[in-house]
Amino acid sequence: MALTGLFLISFLVVHATVNGMIFFNDGGVTFNEWAHFFGTNLLIRTMEIVLFLGLIAHVVDGLMLWSQNRAARPVKYAMEKGGANRSWYSASMGFLGTLILLFLVLHLWHFWVKTRFTGIEGYGVDAAGRENLFAVMQQTFRSPAAVIIYVLGCFSLFWHLLHGFKSAFQSLGINHSRYNGLIAMCGTAFSIIVPALFALMPISIHLNWIK
Ligand code: HEM
Repeated sequence: MALTGLFLISFLVVHATVNGMIFFNDGGVTFNEWAHFFGTNLLIRTMEIVLFLGLIAHVVDGLMLWSQNRAARPVKYAMEKGGANRSWYSASMGFLGTLILLFLVLHLWHFWVKTRFTGIEGYGVDAAGRENLFAVMQQTFRSPAAVIIYVLGCFSLFWHLLHGFKSAFQSLGINHSRYNGLIAMCGTAFSIIVPALFALMPISIHLNWIK
């Protein structure tokens, strides 16, 4: 779980960086350029396969862990003392993970299916004459329902990461009393900054802050 989780975290960094190019507010020219580079680069396309395998492994591992935990404690606690031995987000990793999975299915339908299978020629080209993935974003986020779903997806991601980041280091044995504070701080900062950046994308496109 830890290794696949950290791998998915590294994907999020790349994904947020490429998407962050929309904030140049130049009609999507810089973003389209970066997306085109990443979409046509052989190494990145190969990594895409590894990414999907990593995602499946992470979900399968999570389900196995969940069933092991259930098997280890078939009788429920007579009294659940919420914060006594496990925090809310630790207990709800499965629930939040499922929400993220539902978000991902919709998200891949919105973008990935179009870029890889059905084509985006119908969205025209940008000012630099490149295929216009930014226009696909603009059309997707015209819908307030899509914006709300994306923001909720980003919130689930934030909560999931908040726990996952720290646990990943713990599971890998990278925890030392000297560095635990630093690891926790980096994990918390990452869990806030990356999902917030993602959430800002649909919001600012919907509100026309970015054109
Ligand atoms: C909320 C703002 C987000 C926007 C605007 C966005 C936009 C996009 C776009 C345009 C693509 C297609 C890229 C291409 O095929 O060239 C894509 C692909 C993808 N996105 Fe996102 N994304 C967002 C958030 C997320 C989040 C939070 C996750 C994961 C939790 C995620 C996971 C993926 C995956 C797995 C793919 C397909 C893999 C790939 O194309 O390499 N995205 N996204």
